[in-house]
Amino acid sequence: MNMLEQIKQIKNPEDLTALHSSVFGKNGTMTVRLKDMKNLDNDSRAALNAESAELRDAFKHAQEELEHAAMMNALESQKLDAAAITGYGLRVTDNGRLHPLSQCMSEVSTVLTEMGYSLRTGPEIEDDWHNFTALNTPPHHPARDMQDTFFVSGGNVMRTQTSAVQIRSMEKDGVPIKIFSAGTTYRREMDATHSPMFHQIEGLVVDRRITLSDMVGDIKTFLERFFERELNMRIRPSYFPFTEPSVEIDVEWKPGKWLEIMGAGMVHPNVLCNVKINPNEFQGFAFGFGLDRLAMLKYGLSDIREFFGGDARWLKANGFETLGDKK
Ligand code: PHE
Repeated sequence: MNMLEQIKQIKNPEDLTALHSSVFGKNGTMTVRLKDMKNLDNDSRAALNAESAELRDAFKHAQEELEHAAMMNALESQKLDAAAITGYGLRVTDNGRLHPLSQCMSEVSTVLTEMGYSLRTGPEIEDDWHNFTALNTPPHHPARDMQDTFFVSGGNVMRTQTSAVQIRSMEKDGVPIKIFSAGTTYRREMDATHSPMFHQIEGLVVDRRITLSDMVGDIKTFLERFFERELNMRIRPSYFPFTEPSVEIDVEWKPGKWLEIMGAGMVHPNVLCNVKINPNEFQGFAFGFGLDRLAMLKYGLSDIREFFGGDARWLKANGFETLGDKK
């Protein structure tokens, strides 16, 4: 069999490499002949050159063929893999579940949107003005102690409350305004009912002739729609720097068992002035609450830290509906 035939018949790259070095390697047959070329006449030289070039081409061609075959093989076996993966996927019957907080967030948003509030968002890293100062809480105000704050570089903070979004929205949109904000907030605290990262929802209405009873009516409507039952509500005086008067709202969760559920109040005139709204012309109310706490109540959970454990079994054990269940 001549060399060209041999090359053609090779089936794997190792054999090809071996044959190639036996021909073109250091002491390969062709290498040796080429070294001797000076002893040949012109015609023989030309013939040898042509033979050598032909062999090189043949090796190159054979190598390309083998590479192509290897690629086809790989594609073929990957096709098998893909089929196996798809087959496995088809066998999985366990549907995903909404995280209770996502579920709760969407229920809250639905109720508030139906009541005419529109959603606003803001940054989670806030400047001092929006998180504190514009909310009538200047530096050294003792109320800053109420919120154990994470400070980040440049004098900014991880926002401690969604109230910062009130300021941003009034600065941007002016009045009248009827909005709610929803998002993550951060404070340095951690126990069964506090997580350093939690979620707040905040409502804000500013218009002409807004009164405390508008606020009470909206809060009661919201809570009853959200919990899907009638609730007795109790209003206690409280203190927030950005509302005056400030109140705390409790609901009678079980007969005789009252739970504090949110803070609220009439927007402080200083806050309105800070965002260039005339408090003699416009009044408003704001209310804010922890989504996590509301979710714990609605779904009967006892430890807020479980929300962030990332354990799918916990979702299942607590009976959260699957995406498939949600019609
Ligand atoms: N921002 C307050 C808090 O985090 C809650 C609140 C919001 C109170 C709006 C009054 C009005 O404690």
